[in-house]
Amino acid sequence: MNHSTLQQVNHMPLINGSTELFGIIGSPVSHSLSPAMHNAAFASLGMNRVYVPMPVRDLAEAMSGLRGLGFKGVSVTVPYKEAVIPFLDETDPVAERIGAVNTLLLRQDNAGRTVIRGCNTDWLGSNAALAAAGIALERSRVVVAGAGGAAKAVGFGLMQAGAKVVITNRTAASGMKLAEWLGCEFVALDDLPWLTADVFVNTTSAGMEPDREGIIISPALLPRFAAVMDIVYAPLETRLLREARAAGCRAVDGLAMLLHQGAEQFRLWTGEAAPEAAMRSALERAQLAESH
Ligand code: ATR
Repeated sequence: MNHSTLQQVNHMPLINGSTELFGIIGSPVSHSLSPAMHNAAFASLGMNRVYVPMPVRDLAEAMSGLRGLGFKGVSVTVPYKEAVIPFLDETDPVAERIGAVNTLLLRQDNAGRTVIRGCNTDWLGSNAALAAAGIALERSRVVVAGAGGAAKAVGFGLMQAGAKVVITNRTAASGMKLAEWLGCEFVALDDLPWLTADVFVNTTSAGMEPDREGIIISPALLPRFAAVMDIVYAPLETRLLREARAAGCRAVDGLAMLLHQGAEQFRLWTGEAAPEAAMRSALERAQLAESH
């Protein structure tokens, strides 16, 4: 068996002189599931593209490296989603409004210079994950727990979709600040028993490894929600989702948002619809491998 046949049998991309480069910048990136997801997408459509993890120590040098090396598309993760903005030539209006970029598109202008455009697909990812679970956002009241970058993107997306959003957070001051920015209500965690809503979304790290028994809301309150989404995916079944299923809620796991924000990146980079089934199974395999 020759080398290229062996690569194809192993579902590895066949890298040659025409392979287009994609990847993720962040620090750290060694646990990222995005390489598995995007390489599976490229392979399933027979695209000659490869997506590599790139741990970044110096963002300015990394950005000129991307220009010089001819990268076509790049994901941006913690801690660079805000810091990357000064290095861009263009920012889409939503990324500018949110103040965070998770996707770069690189192209050549007529003079042969590289133009880098920054976009944000996180806010679309959470909407698509909830819509795929059959939730009509424009008719829903959604409680979002958290006040960090993830809560901002999720809350922004939900507001755009016409949902009624309520922010709750361990620290009231930061929760109120986000609610004010979004133009929505804030409710303290202790006041959740007096609230009625359709959907509950956790964007905090409560329940994330190694805090397996952590849960942001009292399980006794879960039966009142039709659906519960957790953006934590390690473990995949968080205590919140286990209790939500037991309470009869539809449960949307943390790989759903990762998948849908990635599907939107894929569409921006290739102009084609993302092969979501192949991406989801690659994510599940990679998540399982990471957890062992
Ligand atoms: P990200 O940008 O990923 O959203 P972040 O900016 O660090 O992350 O925000 C983390 C959010 O999770 C915050 O809302 C934080 O609450 P505080 O504002 O009170 O710090 C919340 N959070 C983290 N760990 C938590 C825990 N164990 N219980 C409750 N909330 C938690």
